[in-house]
Amino acid sequence: MGLFSSSAALNSFDELFVEQLQDLYDAEQRLTKALPKMAAAAHNPALKSAFEEHLKQTENHVRRLEQVFQGLGKSAQTKTCEAMKGLVEEGSEVISGKGDPDVKDAALIAAAQRVEHYEIAGYGTVRTFAQRLGKSEAVRLLQETLNEEAETDKKLTALAEKAINPKAAASV
Ligand SMILES: [Fe+2]
Repeated sequence: MGLFSSSAALNSFDELFVEQLQDLYDAEQRLTKALPKMAAAAHNPALKSAFEEHLKQTENHVRRLEQVFQGLGKSAQTKTCEAMKGLVEEGSEVISGKGDPDVKDAALIAAAQRVEHYEIAGYGTVRTFAQRLGKSEAVRLLQETLNEEAETDKKLTALAEKAINPKAAASV
């Protein structure tokens, strides 16, 4: 999110709301390209399928944002999400890096949970903005995605604690 890096001025709460949606729209599209690579790199089958499942959800998150733009009478436009670019780049470093497969799985989860927390922050904000602006359909759609991001985060925590970290810790 580069709030003041673009030429667009933020003169109203509505404009800020749309700008935040554009940032998320860019972030989600970047993630649809990154998740197949994360899934391919995952060694643990449960982690691989968690990434694959989240890819399907993420494709739906892109569609939901398009529905939100449509409901607002706005065209779906992206605004470069520098944060997601950086988070994806960190994930790429893990993917291309060498090392023990179990430790690399733990590193993939570390990267993926940073992504989820970023999205949870973003969706929490736009959901709350939509509430303030009285956009009830947008609230409903954004809350659905927010719930899925939170579920994914919990799932990754459980996978890390129960399966991935114990294996990673056992490797020497
Ligand atoms: Fe998402």
